[in-house]
Amino acid sequence: MKRTWISRLAAVARDTRRILAIAWRMDARLTFLYYVTAFVAAVVPLASGLTLALLIDRVVVPSPAQVTVPVVAVIVVATHFAIVAINAAVRFGLHEQYYDYVFRYRLQDTFTYRFCEKLTQLDVPHLEDPEVQTLITKVRETHAWRVPDFFRMLAYAFIAVVAVVAAAAGLIPYGAWIVPAVLVATVPRIVLRLRFGEMQWSMYGSGAPESRKLWYFGDLLSQISALRELKVFRTAPSLLARYREIQARIFALGKRPLDRYRWVSVIMPLIEGVVVFAIAWSVLPAVAAGALSVGSFAFFVTMLQQLATWSAEAGSCCSMVYQNLLYVRHWNELMALPRVIPLAERPHRFARIAPPRIEFRDVSFDYPSGRPALRGVSFTIEPGESVALVGANGAGKSTLIKLLCRFYDVTAGQILINGVDLRELDPAHWYAHLGTLFQDFVQYKLTVRDNVLFGDPGRVDEAAMTDAVRKAGAADLVRALPGGYDQILGTEFADGEQLSGGQWQKLAIARAFYQSAPVLIMDEPTSAIDAEAEYEIFNNLEAEYRDKTLILVSHRFSTVRNADRILVIEDGRIVEHGSHDQLLAAAGRYAAMFTAQAAGYR
Ligand SMILES: Nc1ncnc2c1ncn2[C@@H]1O[C@H](COP(=O)(O)OP(=O)(O)OP(=O)(O)O)[C@@H](O)[C@H]1O
Ligand SMILES: [Mg+2]
Repeated sequence: MKRTWISRLAAVARDTRRILAIAWRMDARLTFLYYVTAFVAAVVPLASGLTLALLIDRVVVPSPAQVTVPVVAVIVVATHFAIVAINAAVRFGLHEQYYDYVFRYRLQDTFTYRFCEKLTQLDVPHLEDPEVQTLITKVRETHAWRVPDFFRMLAYAFIAVVAVVAAAAGLIPYGAWIVPAVLVATVPRIVLRLRFGEMQWSMYGSGAPESRKLWYFGDLLSQISALRELKVFRTAPSLLARYREIQARIFALGKRPLDRYRWVSVIMPLIEGVVVFAIAWSVLPAVAAGALSVGSFAFFVTMLQQLATWSAEAGSCCSMVYQNLLYVRHWNELMALPRVIPLAERPHRFARIAPPRIEFRDVSFDYPSGRPALRGVSFTIEPGESVALVGANGAGKSTLIKLLCRFYDVTAGQILINGVDLRELDPAHWYAHLGTLFQDFVQYKLTVRDNVLFGDPGRVDEAAMTDAVRKAGAADLVRALPGGYDQILGTEFADGEQLSGGQWQKLAIARAFYQSAPVLIMDEPTSAIDAEAEYEIFNNLEAEYRDKTLILVSHRFSTVRNADRILVIEDGRIVEHGSHDQLLAAAGRYAAMFTAQAAGYR
């Protein structure tokens, strides 16, 4: 029990230090000023309490016969109001109205940026892992407000603790027992709040997969394509019913700790009030006997009230700090996710970026879920060759490409690039060789220009851009857009023009052309493109890629048949390979698939 408390405190200290360090690196001056103004706000109550006591004793108590106001009383009054005014100016004007906002926005920007940056750095196995997905959802939903709240609560806790110390110091002359008595009375409330925060957090944690689903539904309902389909399938009512069901479950989870502690939270402050009243009452005889001046008593009561209020507040704030820290921990956890694709210690680089010799040597691969996807795959692609991968859905074609892009490492065997194991290569250097057009390519809801230039963001070459667009068969399409190359695409933003599926695909092909990498990998590049345009695109590809390597996945034999070599994949194995004519002559799987498709055209 003791150990767990100690280790918990150590974890709190570590996380607090880590997160403060980020704020400090973000803007040291701002962080400093944010807490300094909080400190000023904290010590003022003691000062104003003291001046109030002086005021009562000097002005109210002395002989009523005195007519002229003594100078010292004027000074005391002036000081008192000055302190109150400074307090308001610093606490309200600077801390709450200015630094609190500025600091909050800076924090939000910093943490959100780092969140996005980390997402771009995550390896593909992480991205395809449901646990990591859940963690990402937790962080996405909470970090933008939990992180700034943590800092704000830390400031409040700081103010409260300073105020408690100040009030305690003021009270000590009246009896050493008073301070511990008041503090003990507030302990239950603090413990309660800590427990409560933990419970709520763990409820949230256990509800996270559910809230991920909720988020997913929300996302689905904001996509036009989904909404269109919902209309025709009339799925909306059942989807909304599920949405409401999950909402209700999450609400119930969050409410449980609230219900459990409702009465305790009401009774605690009442008990604290009774304790404080008893203490004040115990000092009254001394006032009546004249042992304690009225000013002194007023100061005493003020400080007593301060101590009670602030220690309860300190407890509350500390537990809020703790509660927010629990959420910040998810953020830390995400940031700490290690690489799963290890980098070679001394990565290999080729002298120049040119079409390489690619060899798969007895490659097997299982997905992390344990699902076997490739078994004993061996083949070689010579520089400049064009190779097509064909096979039924789920045969392993896209998986093979993911391995070549090193999104995953092989489970057994080797992938050799110019004889060098892919794992020995610098990934950035390897990616400089690759151009890709994935099955689920990105539609950038930005300008046409962006959609093409993102193929090689480091280079802006207008001539190459228009050339790429022409080769991808998209020149007419761009010409017809009101904004031309600067036309915003999609319906997300104002003045956006929506494209058809095939038109989007043409732009993605233009992006690949623009990149003009020595190895071009295309997974179903023309699935949505009309036959004439496809014919033209492939003619251009052939001309462009005469000396470069082209790896193509397609279910359309009209595109496949032109490849130098065709690999037929079935259940994760290569079952046949050869040119179109060779494979037809062999009258095996390929010939069967080809004949089946060709029959459809007769
Ligand atoms: N991220 C993943 N985690 C686990 N299994 C996966 C994952 N991606 C694919 N698989 C499985 O691996 C097998 C091969 O999938 P792959 O995507 O390589 O097929 P494919 O040949 O590209 O099919 P298609 O022609 O439909 O695109 C499938 O059975 C699929 O269920
Ligand atoms: Mg695929």
